[in-house]
Amino acid sequence: MHDRQWPAFEPYKTKVVEKIPLTTGSQRRAAAERAKYNLFLLRASEVTIDLLTDSGTAAMSDRQWSRIMVGDESYAGAESFHRFDKVVREITGMEHVLPCHQGRAAESLLFSVMVNRGDVVPNNTHFDTTEANIAVRGGVPLNAPCGLAHDPAIDAPFKGDMDLARLEQVLTEQAGRVPLVLMTVTNNSVGGQPVSMANLRGAAAICKAHKVPFFLDCARYAENCWFIKHREPGYLKKSLREIAHEMFGCADGALMSAKKDAFVNIGGFLAMRDADLRARVAAQMILVEGYVTYGGLAGRDLEAIAEGLGEGLDEDYMTGRIRQVALLHRRMTELGVPCLNPPGGHAVFIDARGMVPRLPQSQLPGQAVSVELYLEGGIRGCEIGSVMFAHPDPQTGQMVYPDLDLIRLAIPRRVYSDNHMEHVAQSAAAVMARADRIAGMRFAYEPPRLKHFLAHFEWVK
Ligand code: F0G
Repeated sequence: MHDRQWPAFEPYKTKVVEKIPLTTGSQRRAAAERAKYNLFLLRASEVTIDLLTDSGTAAMSDRQWSRIMVGDESYAGAESFHRFDKVVREITGMEHVLPCHQGRAAESLLFSVMVNRGDVVPNNTHFDTTEANIAVRGGVPLNAPCGLAHDPAIDAPFKGDMDLARLEQVLTEQAGRVPLVLMTVTNNSVGGQPVSMANLRGAAAICKAHKVPFFLDCARYAENCWFIKHREPGYLKKSLREIAHEMFGCADGALMSAKKDAFVNIGGFLAMRDADLRARVAAQMILVEGYVTYGGLAGRDLEAIAEGLGEGLDEDYMTGRIRQVALLHRRMTELGVPCLNPPGGHAVFIDARGMVPRLPQSQLPGQAVSVELYLEGGIRGCEIGSVMFAHPDPQTGQMVYPDLDLIRLAIPRRVYSDNHMEHVAQSAAAVMARADRIAGMRFAYEPPRLKHFLAHFEWVK
């Protein structure tokens, strides 16, 4: 008998299927060349296993689809809003909820009323749109990850934590210039690593002492709850929902991209305790997102989020989810592919420089390996390394390279089977086997910012 906590299979069955594009090696070579070796520029029909992101790519459940039919599309006061509002309030314990069309819309709205030029906004690690939405308002996004976060080899339970000493220091030194502190759960930018409840409580206490609002960026909060349950002493007997209550209980507000842990293709929200803040955001929201009871979404989308939020806290689902990500990590490791340790909640990260140590960072090892992985198995991952982050030092003009060159293989929720994961691991192992013959890459076209989306590349001969 299998232990019910750990079924060795996907905890769902198939009701609707979507054909997977299968391609030949020569078709993939032609597609990659046409896409200028930038996997963002491929057509989805050229990709066999698409691990570019876990955002908006989930399979909705039969229950979510059934709610789509009963969506109330009234402009104001739709019943769908009230169902959505009730679920978000139940989970977060926060009184004021504003729907938004996705996470970055929530960021932009919140910062438009909270962040002014010269303000500093700390986070364990900002996601790139969060960082950009602060910077665009003249604010300074500040990352304070814990010390373990940048060592790919260390296997520690809560590498997503914030450096609390740094937070205390920033709040003291920048007193009056910090309008809010954010905590991203799980911490996407350092490998989908979780944040402990102890760290959340610690950060909240520091913010409270400095009278600075503390907000959660909770795109993957349910995955974070699972890690707290299974890794932090005292939580094993609590339900994910209870842990979520405790987590949100530390915060003054939350912003969520529902495209992750709520299994929707579009949607998000802002939740907060402060009625005055809510009123200021609502006024701005009507200008850019829509009326306060739909926020740029259709009523049917609100229904799907309301249902999906509950499903994200289902223990059987989440155990299967974390198990599948860990399975890919384990198979990769067994086959000798260097990966960031431990596996995160939503993705496995290949350590590209560990794979091709002879390629200097100027030859974009993460890009080269991600293209090879596509050519090998039709797999699309996302380079998170020198392409995304290398930049010239403003003083010296010298290139500054990131600590790590990673390839994120983000796993869409309820979409792929364990057999698909095995194909990914085998393909990565095949790339690893010919690592000594992998050429470097360089930019053929380098856009001024957010380069990875639109850049063109060529092989270094
Ligand atoms: N916050 C986090 C932690 C995220 O991971 C994302 C998106 C956002 C905010 C923005 O949300 O996309 O709904 O506007 N992450 C996606 C990713 C795109 O691939 O990691 P959004």
